[in-house]
Amino acid sequence: MPDRLTAPQIRQTKDERKLTMLTAYDYPTAKLLDQSGIDMLLVGDSLAMTVLGHEDTLSVGMEEMLHHTRAVARAADYSLVVGDMPFLSYQTSLNQAVYNAGRFLKEGRAQAVKLEGGRSVLPQIEAIVAAGIPVQGHLGLTPQSSAQLGGFKVQAKSAATAGKLLEEAHALVQAGCFSIVLEAVPAEIAEKVAEEIPVPIIGIGAGAGCDGQVLVFHDLVGLYQGQPPKFAKQYVNLADVVSEAAHTFKTEVEEGTFPTSEHSFFLPQEERNKL
Ligand code: KIV
Repeated sequence: MPDRLTAPQIRQTKDERKLTMLTAYDYPTAKLLDQSGIDMLLVGDSLAMTVLGHEDTLSVGMEEMLHHTRAVARAADYSLVVGDMPFLSYQTSLNQAVYNAGRFLKEGRAQAVKLEGGRSVLPQIEAIVAAGIPVQGHLGLTPQSSAQLGGFKVQAKSAATAGKLLEEAHALVQAGCFSIVLEAVPAEIAEKVAEEIPVPIIGIGAGAGCDGQVLVFHDLVGLYQGQPPKFAKQYVNLADVVSEAAHTFKTEVEEGTFPTSEHSFFLPQEERNKL
């Protein structure tokens, strides 16, 4: 396995190769994804929904995010680990933003942070980058603002909003972002953003013209029980595999066919004779 990727290396891949990013929230999954050569592991605030059972991403806090980031970071030898800054960890003040971003590196052992938003968070991005912390931006559908956006909707659907999106992407690069996630944006618009913007654009529901793709792990493997978004491709149905294993275990225990001698420990003959 080659050395661990750095944020500057991710930035340099622009126009060289496609990048891959998957969410990861625990050690064994992160180990498998890292060994599969996934470039970036995002400890996404989506863990609020996929792992903790909340109905949106707003409820997860710094301590939970750091707990999961530490587990993922312990597993990653190749992938760049990106900690996703949760709601209210960076919006309230520059000090809070830098402090919490720093915690992802210092305590979580991530190599970069991601935060959602355009112009409104430029001062935060500049301050975090000035503190020596690589920042990945996130534009388009930004789930932490879904109340303001009126739900989980495709963004930048007109020429005017597409122009604003491009402006914001340029501003994020100016502020120092090494890469930008672009979520739920028409493919034509995303392609234009990827063509114009000099850092890798990582798409999710943004078509094939992006410089890389990100998916939520639980969507990829069919483990999320809720309604998956249209853009999520399920590569395997692990929910069925896990349910079948649990049902078979239950049946075998109830019927007495598990455990067999293969899964049991026995006394030596002389001890058995004393019973
Ligand atoms: O939290 C997350 O999983 C994300 C991805 C959807 C990019 O932000």
